[in-house]
Amino acid sequence: MPPATVCRLRELTPADYAAVITLWRSCPGIGLTEADSYAGTVAYLARNPGLSVVATDLTGAIVGAVLCGHDGRRGYLHHLAVAPASRRQGIGRQLVEECLARLRTAGIAKCNLFLFADNAAGRAFWLRCGWHTRLDLMLVQRATT
Ligand SMILES: CC(C)(COP(=O)(O)OP(=O)(O)OC[C@H]1O[C@@H](n2cnc3c(N)ncnc32)[C@H](O)[C@@H]1OP(=O)(O)O)[C@@H](O)C(=O)NCCC(=O)NCCS
Repeated sequence: MPPATVCRLRELTPADYAAVITLWRSCPGIGLTEADSYAGTVAYLARNPGLSVVATDLTGAIVGAVLCGHDGRRGYLHHLAVAPASRRQGIGRQLVEECLARLRTAGIAKCNLFLFADNAAGRAFWLRCGWHTRLDLMLVQRATT
């Protein structure tokens, strides 16, 4: 593995929205919806204070981000992304471990995430980081209207 990009982890705040949405938009594995508007993201952060994290480089530029929250029972990660030039240097794993530590502190014992079935690279990452897929489950969804 190449030497890790020197990066710092800190809480993702509303002020990071422009940089983070630009990163997410550049990543095919990230599915964005109306919930990812500025207002939606600020609402998510307010519901889940102190859990979402960004990685910044020495200049302070954001090179990775992940949304993290919980519903009181289980934790959830959304939109984990690392800028292409900074991948395979341990940043994704650090972001995930930081979120898991924050969930543990909040008393949450397990964490789930959604992954597109055709995202083979993303799946390889999660498996490498100790996650397992639940092929016995299916996502069931409808609009509230
Ligand atoms: C998935 C992603 C976040 C990984 O970030 P990263 O910083 O490159 O990952 P890391 O360097 O921390 O890798 C952690 C481990 O996963 C492995 N890994 C990472 N990407 C991999 C890939 N594409 N294929 C196989 N293994 C991979 C690494 O080799 C490393 O293993 P090791 O520590 O045992 O050597 C990044 O590739 C990305 O942003 N992808 C696009 C967005 C996406 O698909 N996100 C997931 C949506 S749920």
